[in-house]
Amino acid sequence: MTEPLLPHQTAAWTALEALAQAPAPRLDALFAAEPDRVARMTVEQSGLHFDFSKLPLGAEHRAALVALAEAAGLADWRQQLAAGALVNPSEHRAATHMRLRDPAHMDDHAAMQQLVEQVRGGTLGPVKHIIHIGIGGSALGPLLLLDALGAQGDGPAVEVVANIDGAALARAFAACDPASTMLVAVSKTFTTQETLTNLHSALAWLEAGGVVKPWDRVIAVTAAPTRAEAAGVAPSRILGFSETVGGRYSLWSAVGLPLALRCGWGSFAALLQGAHAMDCHFLQAEPLRNAPVLAAMADVWAACFTAKATRAVFAYDERLRLLPAFLQQLEMESNGKSVSRDGRPLPFPTAAVTWGGTGTDAQHAVFQLLHQGTHSDPVEFLAVATPAHDLPAIHHKLLLANCFAQGAALMRGRTTAEALAAANGDPALAGAKSFPGNRGSSTILIDRLTPDRLGALLAFYEARTFAAAVLMGINPFDQWGVELGKATANAVASATDTIFDPSTTALLAAAERMARHNRQVPIDLS
Ligand code: F6P
Repeated sequence: MTEPLLPHQTAAWTALEALAQAPAPRLDALFAAEPDRVARMTVEQSGLHFDFSKLPLGAEHRAALVALAEAAGLADWRQQLAAGALVNPSEHRAATHMRLRDPAHMDDHAAMQQLVEQVRGGTLGPVKHIIHIGIGGSALGPLLLLDALGAQGDGPAVEVVANIDGAALARAFAACDPASTMLVAVSKTFTTQETLTNLHSALAWLEAGGVVKPWDRVIAVTAAPTRAEAAGVAPSRILGFSETVGGRYSLWSAVGLPLALRCGWGSFAALLQGAHAMDCHFLQAEPLRNAPVLAAMADVWAACFTAKATRAVFAYDERLRLLPAFLQQLEMESNGKSVSRDGRPLPFPTAAVTWGGTGTDAQHAVFQLLHQGTHSDPVEFLAVATPAHDLPAIHHKLLLANCFAQGAALMRGRTTAEALAAANGDPALAGAKSFPGNRGSSTILIDRLTPDRLGALLAFYEARTFAAAVLMGINPFDQWGVELGKATANAVASATDTIFDPSTTALLAAAERMARHNRQVPIDLS
């Protein structure tokens, strides 16, 4: 049987490789060649304004990338994703996160909505604090939702604890009163070492705080309800979700419970509705008017054809400060692969490293490298047109000015002649003060940060990640790369495997020696 052609084996891929051999286009030349470039490369959808015009894609690049999308069968793959077909072959699963926000399936959320109303209505006793325990996809999404929207809520205060480091749980305990705290244990598999350890320590804390039946104060969110029940959670407090929803795609399920508890059901429903609108756009818009598809094309061009090893994301809004961390998991766990969906090695660089931070802070820390370093990797800026505060308008005016100025400066740079003038003719100083420019960026401007807008933004990133995976021939829904580390950690912790490499053995011995020494010799801080 002949194996199906992978995208990189098609003529469309070869045509893109040929384009990549030519000198990189100058952004100013691209703007000059296309007077309507901004309009052509800007998409407005669901209150989000996507400006891709500063990315180094000329009309011929875009046409060649559309040909790649056709050769890779993107239109068909996205329909298969939406239809619940098997798009995750290594786990023999569909990927059904889009169904969770489809209005036709809102009944799937009935149990969650009922529990939210019980907690918020006080039926389950006084609940002033929630400790949400989960890790990876079971924490990053809910944490982002809370950080972005939680200030608008009137429900219980939520602490999210992920790390096995007891300091994380200790910090949450310090902010909560056991008498009015509910635990929400979130784990798709209900086997994760960190989550189960933290849950048991939190139960012990409740008990020590006078709670007679601590298990009655636990809500579990999981795709493995039998395991949760076996652990001790009451069946009426278990909210299930499907195995076909991946951890990093799960915030639309009961994994998003903290937002609903804090801000009410209406906010969670609006989040889903915004995401659904973006899904419809992704499924229906033609490639060059389709925000996730255009973004994915640019990502694949940068990473696979021009060897850009990173993509930076800077949110010029405190409410979105956790977006880079969320995207790191979404993009790197999904597309950080080196084989095709059918296990064949891929002979090109795949997903870039996602990194980033918050503007304007990051300007004073890492932007030096972006403007003058030897890397010239793509940068994405996000801003919200309407501020979250009532402070003088100058704050927001300067915030947006800084955001837009960075993209402009990355593109424009500073010529040697301009640098010489700025350096009073001193050539050494002029060298230090010149900027190469011609560095690409994209900007996403959001009209206001409401739950529906945030839903649309996160659905955009999910769709973009999927589209990039299709263009590369990757399965974005498995994560076998984390399994070896997990298994090894279990072996180290339980000492079932005592034959490690010499460095690991020495580290274990050194940690034990240091801990023993510190127990005997208290640190003198006087
Ligand atoms: O370690 C990776 C991972 O499997 C993620 O994909 C997942 O989001 C996280 O661990 C937590 O897993 P679980 O929800 O099963 O506890």
